[in-house]
Amino acid sequence: MRDNMLAAVAASAGLEALDAVRVDALGKQGRITQLLKTLGGMSPEQRQVEGPRIQSLREAVTTAIADRKAALEAAALDARLASETLDMTLPADAPLSGTIHPVSQVMDELAEIFADLGFAVATGPEMETDWHNFSALNIPETHPARAMHDTFYLEGAQALKHLGLADERETISVLRTHTSPVQIRTMLSQKPPIRIIAPGRTYRSDSDATHTPMFHQVEGLVIDKGITLGHLKWTLETFLKAFFERDDIVLRLRPSYFPFTEPSAEIDVGYSLVKGKRVIGGSGDDKDGGWLEVLGSGMVHPKVIEACGLDPAEWQGFAFGCGIDRLAMLKYGMDDLRAFFDGDIRWLKHYGFSA
Ligand code: PHE
Repeated sequence: MRDNMLAAVAASAGLEALDAVRVDALGKQGRITQLLKTLGGMSPEQRQVEGPRIQSLREAVTTAIADRKAALEAAALDARLASETLDMTLPADAPLSGTIHPVSQVMDELAEIFADLGFAVATGPEMETDWHNFSALNIPETHPARAMHDTFYLEGAQALKHLGLADERETISVLRTHTSPVQIRTMLSQKPPIRIIAPGRTYRSDSDATHTPMFHQVEGLVIDKGITLGHLKWTLETFLKAFFERDDIVLRLRPSYFPFTEPSAEIDVGYSLVKGKRVIGGSGDDKDGGWLEVLGSGMVHPKVIEACGLDPAEWQGFAFGCGIDRLAMLKYGMDDLRAFFDGDIRWLKHYGFSA
């Protein structure tokens, strides 16, 4: 039986076959296990002879199985090492490099262009108080403009407000719907003259090909003495010429309404159709042209200047605001705003934003 079992161990070609041999010898119903059970029915003399014999058989088979198992495992490893060779001479895949996102790129361009005109960059929080986002901008609670903003309200703050526990100047209660609250924060924290732009994220509950719930705006604010609509027009014209890198930029100031500016003007730029695509430049009244609205603007409302603790008789200014994503779309010929926030590197490469 010993030779027979040891031969079976040696002959097992794989781990499964070896396990079958183990079960046959040492398992619950195994032959050696059965032999051990016979010891109980033997006379003491017989047991003294048979006991050590069966024990040594068990040890021999157990050791043989363990050795064979180790040998089979080593062989399996050798086989794997032999088949999974690495060719160290192959060239490596080129690493996928990131790129500057068009929105970041446009923000950098804006900062550069306006720096040349003497504007600093200001920032403000994306979670705002009602007061900074609306009231101080001459949009009281009952003003219809509030409804137009599709505001995201912060739940806890709304509850506090209903209980009369919220200090409207202190309690953060909305995601800012525009960058205009940065006008307020700047006027409160800096002495005029002020010349700033404020690029950043803004939020409105809106989503389609040209609207995303999060989008980017840039605000501009100038507060000084003797500022007129002429300064506003010159500044925006200079900015748009630099941004679109063309001298034939034509602006149209269309009377409009914003609660925080008076008078207010929407700024349209002329475009021309080139191979069916709108390209900024030229008069919108040209045969193949049209007008695109790109900015909201106006002279800062005296009530806003007053809300910031300044005397409107002494200080005047202008402000403007526009969508950065929209500027990027116009400059780089992109047509779906949602793609801006998908993070698809193929899309970035398509528009030439690859490193
Ligand atoms: N805040 C306005 C908007 O989001 C834009 C604007 C800014 C208009 C400053 C006038 C002056 O639509």
